Amino acid sequence: MLKKLEAIIFDLDGVITDTAEYHFLAWKKLGEELGIPFDREFNETLKGISRMDSLERILELGNRNNEFTTEQKLELAERKNKHYVELIKDITPANLLPGVEKFLQQIKQANLKISMASASKNALMVAEALGVKHYFDHIVNAATVTNSKPDPEVFLKAAAAINAKPENCIGIEDAAAGVNAIQSAGMFAVGIGDRNVLGHAHIVLKSTEELDLKSLCSEYVNN
Ligand code: BG6
Ligand code: MG
Repeated sequence: MLKKLEAIIFDLDGVITDTAEYHFLAWKKLGEELGIPFDREFNETLKGISRMDSLERILELGNRNNEFTTEQKLELAERKNKHYVELIKDITPANLLPGVEKFLQQIKQANLKISMASASKNALMVAEALGVKHYFDHIVNAATVTNSKPDPEVFLKAAAAINAKPENCIGIEDAAAGVNAIQSAGMFAVGIGDRNVLGHAHIVLKSTEELDLKSLCSEYVNN
């Protein structure tokens, strides 16, 4: 049976721009304020995870998850977000990862749809600051998503909003949980980054520089 490609669905942080690094720095700062230091290896487990779920994981790491009320946890999450917003305040189109805009243009020229499935409540603001919002037919509002990646919810919402069938979509992710979410949604998964972390994706590219619609389509059709 011939496979039909309808849409490409992007994660944001770590795929379109390097904000994954800023999320790391902001959480690390909060962690240090709480006496819970952590390294990049632990940070891998936070990638793609919602703000509140990330906080829970950090508190759990420090054995402190029973010390705070829900209200206090919301305050801590807000504090992290302030650190994060401070770090991203000067973002411009120069912060797009290499090859991303060329790839977005290729998708548009091929008349395919483009949607965004980010867990970040800052996604719209970041897409605007990067000057790429106009490429997207839809950007899921993370506040409407109940279940964090690896649950497929955000990818299914991203596809439904543009009337694309999940099996006709390619999802692109830099996080292990995100690749799982794409696969549970029944989509073709492209991982960007380390093969040791993302080896469960259909294909793994080292960097966004390798994103090319023609070669991606042939991988998609043959897999
Ligand atoms: C994801 C990031 O895209 O968004 C996570 O990979 C982040 O690191 C999550 O925690 C939530 O982002 P925000 O901006 O809503 O705190
Ligand atoms: Mg990401």
